[in-house]
Amino acid sequence: MERFFNTAGPIQKDIHYFIDPLKRFDLDEVLMLIGQRKYFVMHAPRQTGKTTCLLSLRDFLNAQGKYQSIYVNVESGQAARNDVGAVIKGICQRICDESHILFDDDIAQKTKDEVKDMEPGVMLTGFLSRLSTRLHKPLVLLIDEIDSLVGDSLVSVLRQIRSGYPNRPKHFPLSIVLCGVRDVRDYRIVLSNQDIVTGGSAFNIKSESLRLGNMTKEEIHELYMQHTQDTGQEFDEACFPMIWEATEGQPWLVNALGYEVTMKMKENRDRNVRIIPEMIYRAQERIIYRRDTHIDILIDKLKEPRVKHVIEPILANSEKPVDGLIPSDDIQYVVDLGLIKREIGNNVRIANGIYREIISSNSFQQ
Ligand SMILES: Nc1ncnc2c1ncn2[C@@H]1O[C@H](COP(=O)(O)OP(=O)(O)O)[C@@H](O)[C@H]1O
Ligand SMILES: [Mg+2]
Repeated sequence: MERFFNTAGPIQKDIHYFIDPLKRFDLDEVLMLIGQRKYFVMHAPRQTGKTTCLLSLRDFLNAQGKYQSIYVNVESGQAARNDVGAVIKGICQRICDESHILFDDDIAQKTKDEVKDMEPGVMLTGFLSRLSTRLHKPLVLLIDEIDSLVGDSLVSVLRQIRSGYPNRPKHFPLSIVLCGVRDVRDYRIVLSNQDIVTGGSAFNIKSESLRLGNMTKEEIHELYMQHTQDTGQEFDEACFPMIWEATEGQPWLVNALGYEVTMKMKENRDRNVRIIPEMIYRAQERIIYRRDTHIDILIDKLKEPRVKHVIEPILANSEKPVDGLIPSDDIQYVVDLGLIKREIGNNVRIANGIYREIISSNSFQQ
């Protein structure tokens, strides 16, 4: 089967065009932090390639043979919200399932059965502690979508990780990576008793925060050339400045444009058709018009007052430095969401051409 541009979830290397995920972040730096037994954060906006990178890191570490690495996505904890018991049990179970698939043994499941009667507030610590003791090599745990957890559950997970930290590497994971859209230190977490704690206070062991960036111009070119190599279909070189302007390397947008112009625009499935800038322009308009989930979530975010306060002045005058009256936390929030970019001199602007078009046609309407 022909490979194609991926617009749905993490990369699968046998069917998708891709940039080597391990080259998209500073692997040496990450290996150093793991070697130093650090717990740290990796963050980036939605659909930047976080999950793809974590899965590749896990496979790299397991192949390397120094550690055992488990990836766990805690997203389904979102539904359980402040039900700490349900969230913690769910996380333990998913670690078991992942561990079983990866290592083909029941060490994790047996361990979980042993801790099943513990209080939720200590169960994760107890589980990870016993699991780390039993695994053959030090455990590197990659926790994805950490910020889908809220309130009591998020605080419980962070505190339980902190509480086992001194026992690493023999009796607790040697290293833990927390991955999400924002840096956990910046969260304001509202507990069920209405108290507010910051992520930084519940998890005060975080040593570093790494941000996964967008694709470079060269990477975009490399990705599109994979299509040319696989199918023989050529892109006019003049397409590339347009693709850059429209996406500025936002990975999902880059793929969505590629998929649109080579697959969804049916007449272009004839691989003898050379892709020209006019087609890229049409693909861009079709993506904006169709409002895929990626675009829809973006439009939804514009309704948040915090986001609105940051975006509106930028739209009104994109050249002006950020108004000192807007709290810098709010600006950072919108930067973390990937909607805006900070420039030299503290100027901010909308992150790319496609977002600019969507935001300017949606933001003043509600
Ligand atoms: N290594 C890569 N090469 C090319 N495109 C990628 C790569 N990683 C991610 N993408 C693009 O980003 C999208 C989201 O990937 P995913 O790993 O699910 O990101 P996240 O976890 O940040 O939401 C993919 O559907 C694809 O379009
Ligand atoms: Mg993800």
